[in-house]
Amino acid sequence: MKKWRSFVLVLACWTLVATAPTLAGHGGKDDKGPAILLVTFGTTVPQARAAFDAIEKRVKTAFPEVPVRWAYTSSVVRKKLAGQGVSLDSPEMALARLMDEGHSRIAVQSLHMMTGIEFHELHVNAMKFGEMRGGPKKIAVGMPLLSSDADLELVADTLMTLLPSERKPEEAVVLMGHGSHHPSDAVFSAMMYKFQKRDPNVFVGTVEGHPDVEDIKGQLLAKGIKKAYLVPFMSVAGDHATNDLAGDEPDSWKSLLTAAGVACVPVLKGMAEYDAIADIWVAHLKETMNSAR
Ligand code: CO
Repeated sequence: MKKWRSFVLVLACWTLVATAPTLAGHGGKDDKGPAILLVTFGTTVPQARAAFDAIEKRVKTAFPEVPVRWAYTSSVVRKKLAGQGVSLDSPEMALARLMDEGHSRIAVQSLHMMTGIEFHELHVNAMKFGEMRGGPKKIAVGMPLLSSDADLELVADTLMTLLPSERKPEEAVVLMGHGSHHPSDAVFSAMMYKFQKRDPNVFVGTVEGHPDVEDIKGQLLAKGIKKAYLVPFMSVAGDHATNDLAGDEPDSWKSLLTAAGVACVPVLKGMAEYDAIADIWVAHLKETMNSAR
């Protein structure tokens, strides 16, 4: 009888031990439910962070019950901010915290413009968190702004309604994308094609990819354009917008185009600051939330 009782006791303990980790990680009483992780390159320009506040507001309106966290993919930006006493997580740090807190479903939303290097790294690493023991039951990564032909069409249509209202048709709009040596750099040429079907005087160049500023300058001069509105085609109007686009240094786009006889009017507002554009990222997040169920 005594032997039988201890056998039952051992069996009960073994069952507890064997099932406890599963319960903790997968919908048990410690399950903190869904969470949203917004991931951006980041910015060191304080006023540029207005773009992040704007998009966070729209995300919280769409998902009032779900906690929202941030991560910056740029280690350079994170280190610079850390030096100023501002602490920001990498995506991996943020995911580790969410995992530790017990969130069973995580929607990671990329706030990048296109599916470049940063997005691919984010995607690969986020998927690994989904494979971990005791990790989230479901994790999904939402696509950047320009991820399909439908996105490109929608962004072109939307931006056409947001161009400076004082602009005359013979004046140009020059959008500055970041650009990359990654193949997804081609999206900027594709965007120029989309825009020019709608308005032949809208141009898209990049700082670090193609088309570059020399390409754009040549096209403006060939068309005899005398004035251009310079608009960052990035989520925030950060360092590239203030310096490379609109700065007073001789190699900024403003200086190069002005020297070529094109009067320049910079419009320093990040894409995430335009509600109608931010809502395209939010629409991607809604899809991500659905697939993180
Ligand atoms: Co850059």
